[in-house]
Amino acid sequence: MKTARMIIDRDYTLARTEETLFSSFVEPLGRCIYGGLYEPGHPSADEKGFRRDVLSLIKPLNLTMNRFPGGNYTSTFRWEDSVGPKENRPRRAEVAWQCIETNEFGINEFADWSRLNGSDVMMTVNLATRGVLEAMDCVEYCNLEGGTYWSDLRRSHGYPAPHGYRYWCLSNEIDGPWQVGQNSGAAYGHLAREASKAMKLVDPTIKTVLAGSSNPEMPTYPDFDVAAMDEAWEQVDYLSVHHYISNLKGDTPNYLAKALSTDLFFRQLGGLFAYVKARKRSNHDLYISFDEYNTWHTVSGNERMEKPRWTIAPPLLEDIYTMEDAAALGSMLITILCHCDLVKIACLSELCNCISHIRTRNGGGCWVLPPYYAFLHFSRYGRGTVLIPRIDSPKYDSRDYADVPWLDAVPVLNDDGGVTVFAVNRSLTETLPLRIELRGFEGRYAPDECIVLSHSDPKATNTEENPENVKPHAGKAAVEGGMLCADLAPLSWNVIRLKSGK
Ligand code: AHR
Repeated sequence: MKTARMIIDRDYTLARTEETLFSSFVEPLGRCIYGGLYEPGHPSADEKGFRRDVLSLIKPLNLTMNRFPGGNYTSTFRWEDSVGPKENRPRRAEVAWQCIETNEFGINEFADWSRLNGSDVMMTVNLATRGVLEAMDCVEYCNLEGGTYWSDLRRSHGYPAPHGYRYWCLSNEIDGPWQVGQNSGAAYGHLAREASKAMKLVDPTIKTVLAGSSNPEMPTYPDFDVAAMDEAWEQVDYLSVHHYISNLKGDTPNYLAKALSTDLFFRQLGGLFAYVKARKRSNHDLYISFDEYNTWHTVSGNERMEKPRWTIAPPLLEDIYTMEDAAALGSMLITILCHCDLVKIACLSELCNCISHIRTRNGGGCWVLPPYYAFLHFSRYGRGTVLIPRIDSPKYDSRDYADVPWLDAVPVLNDDGGVTVFAVNRSLTETLPLRIELRGFEGRYAPDECIVLSHSDPKATNTEENPENVKPHAGKAAVEGGMLCADLAPLSWNVIRLKSGK
């Protein structure tokens, strides 16, 4: 039987994970908000219209922050539309998703919902079709105490305390031809620099995020990123990049390998940062804000254009996520941890219904799809110091990738002294015995918990009627003579937790 071997050494540390690595993304797209987080009149809605049943699925995710409001949505967003008395808010033709936006749920509603959830907000300003002044006004509205036009307006709207948002995205996917207000890297970088400078004059405590490439397959990648960074390097703090992977061709072994492209993307971005920093003779550093990632299958189906336009919150991009998506997402999460020295913000896209693992029925129930559990475990046990493992695994070749390891894995030294190993077995048919040599832990560590997500059918999923078809179960792991042993089921996501015997 083929076996995977791994060495974990307590002293081989990569970096600490930032809290902001455990974040998500909320866009007024389809039923993410309306019919998802917010549905006044639903039996479980509170007095503000927030669905308590949905919140009870989100809370365990322990999200640090949620990016809002977009996404492509931002490119025609007039933030002022979304505040003040609801009866005065304009209904707009929201062109990115071809829907009617009622603006019933805006900046302050999201602040209320976030408070309830215990998460922070990462705001996005529109530099695609608006400019520096509107971005400054939005910072003033959200973050200043009072005594100015916009901060007093917020107070008059019933919010005496500033929201105090720290992270601000400078627009979204400006490189994309689908974007209203697409721009070149240099022109956008110049505008973003000035906007960031001005926004920081309003509130010097904020951090800003420059929009980079929408995905590594963009024909303008990496020139767009270099040109934008060349303009804005000293004034911004992060570069936003996105990556979605899909199984549109129904080739699961190839799909399961796609996180290798995410890995390559991060490594290349590290090189680009070093290049621009050297060119500018700078002491400043930028980090990656991976503020949209997930698996997404309807992406090139152009689903939106097949549905009636100008309706309110139609169901859009509601992929049926399965067990194989959980494993594919698991590999993306492992990849994020393996680059946590560079990736400091990561937002799973999106949080509810649309490209999401939490599904609702309007007026009905809510349930979770298999990848939900991979993210849940990542957020619950992924915080701490990531260790650099040495992995020796059997490999396979797929259509686009050579030498794909069956085992994808990363260890994290948690703050309670325990160790968590996240592991994916990419083989669809073979159990993979995993033997981990523990160095620097000998004799003092014992298995605490072993969590397995697997199913005999890669396409298995959960529904409202059968919500527990795919759910985690307990697995087995043992430590024998400094060696941690576990057998990983075919196509599985595994969380092996060791506790310190001290
Ligand atoms: O998350 C859906 C869309 O995907 C976002 O609006 C956009 O930024 C990306 O292309």
